[in-house]
Amino acid sequence: MRSRDDLIAAARRARKNAVAPYSKFQVGAALRAKSLRVYKGCNVENATYGLTICAERVAVFKALSEGERDFVTIAIVADTGKLTPPCGACRQILWEFCGDIEIYLANLAGKVEHHWLSDLFPKPFDAKFL
Ligand code: THU
Repeated sequence: MRSRDDLIAAARRARKNAVAPYSKFQVGAALRAKSLRVYKGCNVENATYGLTICAERVAVFKALSEGERDFVTIAIVADTGKLTPPCGACRQILWEFCGDIEIYLANLAGKVEHHWLSDLFPKPFDAKFL
């Protein structure tokens, strides 16, 4: 699947920009909007640790700030044998802004897994409760 491979390749490229001096754990994400534009993100850490932001949220916020509102697929790449899934905070943000988005997890060795956010985040709190 070329579009899948292209998105994973974009996430790999984004990962190279990771600012992860504390954990040394580099993550890249690439978010495809309905417009077909792709927004890349990497994790950016902070000495206070808690202000660190994950690759996925950087990609989502970049896209939103460029005016995008509809999203189709996100690819997330890290260098782990067991593929790195989005953290809880990122799942909540992805649900809020992307809904039940298609997710590819991949590593540098070429292993790929396909998920839907609703599988990884089955009982979300969202605006429907408010
Ligand atoms: N991290 C991400 O960027 N995305 C994930 O899906 C998991 C964790 C980052 C946050 C932190 O900079 C580092 O990985 C270690 O937790």
